[in-house]
Amino acid sequence: MNILLSGCSRGIGLQILQVLLNSDKVETVFALSSNINRLPKHSSIVAVEVDFMTDLWMDKVIEYVNDKEIHGLINNAGYLYNGKTGAIPQYEINKMLTINYSAPLQLIQGLLDNLKRGKAHIVNIGSMGGVSGSSKFPGLSVYSSTKAALANLSECWAEELKEYGIASNCLALGAVNTEMLHEAFPGYVAPTSAIQIAKAIVEFTLSFDKVMNGKIIPLSVSTP
Ligand SMILES: NC(=O)c1ccc[n+]([C@@H]2O[C@H](COP(=O)([O-])OP(=O)(O)OC[C@H]3O[C@@H](n4cnc5c(N)ncnc54)[C@H](OP(=O)(O)O)[C@@H]3O)[C@@H](O)[C@H]2O)c1
Repeated sequence: MNILLSGCSRGIGLQILQVLLNSDKVETVFALSSNINRLPKHSSIVAVEVDFMTDLWMDKVIEYVNDKEIHGLINNAGYLYNGKTGAIPQYEINKMLTINYSAPLQLIQGLLDNLKRGKAHIVNIGSMGGVSGSSKFPGLSVYSSTKAALANLSECWAEELKEYGIASNCLALGAVNTEMLHEAFPGYVAPTSAIQIAKAIVEFTLSFDKVMNGKIIPLSVSTP
């Protein structure tokens, strides 16, 4: 299988990449990263340097993927700025919208033919904060609502793309110990590690598209 993964130089994405490389089902990983020097060296990785805050990054992805079928696309890249609505800088709002919502949308648009041919499983990495009825936290309004938009896209794509055999789901993560979490909430220790969640994400991506489509699935050990 050929898998495209975004945001994989650190945190959950780096662990997903490692798990993919250890899977005998995976042939190639198109690894999109703004920091490709930090990616592991491996013959199965096609590293594509992208910064979603710039123009023309999609042209580069299309060039690298070329005519290869894509069987799984994991939209893992994400950005969180902890700031209350009255004080959050416009630049940070745009950055969360671009990385958490617009970039996954552009990827599906730009790679639609590759996804059709691979009958791909699109897996969007959402957040519990973006799930209706979950606990909400001050400072995360914009972040959580961009993840809610991504979750909704996951449901809509399932309907739009099912005629091509493409499945689309969203995994809504609870807190996971990564640099992102520690930068946003210094001192907080989450109950889940990046490798634990990465194993679940990879298993889900490689195997669950035949039994789930258009679902927003909480991956969280706490309730609600
Ligand atoms: N950690 C948690 O508690 C938690 C909870 C719920 C949801 N999530 C979600 O899980 C995913 C992974 O989070 P994480 O905790 O591992 O965070 P992270 O370490 O900050 O990883 C996010 C990745 O997004 C990529 N990215 C950021 N800005 C980018 C840009 N301008 N262009 C291209 N890529 C960019 C980066 O990858 P490169 O360095 O490779 O570019 C970065 O490593 C995110 O979508 C996050 O929202 C995390």
